[in-house]
Amino acid sequence: MSPPLVAMHGIEKHFGGVEAVRDVSVALNPGEVVGVLGHNGAGKSCLMRILSGAMAASGGHIEVDGKPVRIDSPQDARAHGIETIYQTLALANHLDAPANLFLGRELKTRWGNLDDRRMLSEARKALHRLNPNFKNLGDPVARLSGGQRQVIAIARAIYFDVKILIMDEPTAALGPSETAMVADLIKTLKAEGIGIFLVSHDMHDVFDLCDRVMVMNKGANVGDHDIRDVTKDDVLSLIVKGTLPEGWAPRRAVA
Ligand SMILES: Nc1ncnc2c1ncn2[C@@H]1O[C@H](COP(=O)(O)OP(=O)(O)OP(=O)(O)O)[C@@H](O)[C@H]1O
Ligand SMILES: [Mg+2]
Repeated sequence: MSPPLVAMHGIEKHFGGVEAVRDVSVALNPGEVVGVLGHNGAGKSCLMRILSGAMAASGGHIEVDGKPVRIDSPQDARAHGIETIYQTLALANHLDAPANLFLGRELKTRWGNLDDRRMLSEARKALHRLNPNFKNLGDPVARLSGGQRQVIAIARAIYFDVKILIMDEPTAALGPSETAMVADLIKTLKAEGIGIFLVSHDMHDVFDLCDRVMVMNKGANVGDHDIRDVTKDDVLSLIVKGTLPEGWAPRRAVA
């Protein structure tokens, strides 16, 4: 069997006396969507920030394709094909879509100048792959809808050979039709073999999109299950109490 795309082993994160992440191990396989759930403050974002190089772990180690790696910065993460879409999207509002897509990674001509023409055509291709109706490529992104902004953030993440995508609450700020569009995008990326960690509070999204759920409670991984083995009530019980309901057995075994 081939190794997982990424495996986190025994990850710890302490802030003074606060144990934000406690001995968490979790893996992600190609084409798999793993939901990361838990109450506010459970440690989800800290765990994901450690994987994306935005935060240093206090302990544990990470393997990519079965090999130990050091991820000390977002650049290190990117070099391993790990990209992150933050809840805030982190777009430059005054710039247009192509400028945002290539922010910090601009395409240059062979004479070292910015290659605006190629960035525009590449941006058009990347955005249309996600949404064939995407327009307004020349507008500052501040003027675009929440859904369009989300498309740009996703296009930016996947343009550079992403293998592992971290999405922290990607639909939290979107309306119903835009949420449905992001769900379709996630299915497209999954079909292309990209592995996705999806941090979400939305149980409907989780059951619609995820192959597995990993629930965090007070910094610990209290359950990692195939989505077919749990009900929404089982997952809620893990979130709230940190345990499965009394007498629980994997649903597939029961059926
Ligand atoms: N930079 C920081 N300094 C100190 N404490 C922090 C820092 N970042 C997070 N924490 C603490 O670590 C714990 C886990 O926070 P984290 O942001 O990972 O939670 P979360 O599961 O993402 O919650 P939410 O659902 O609200 O986004 C919390 O107790 C939080 O207060
Ligand atoms: Mg968070």
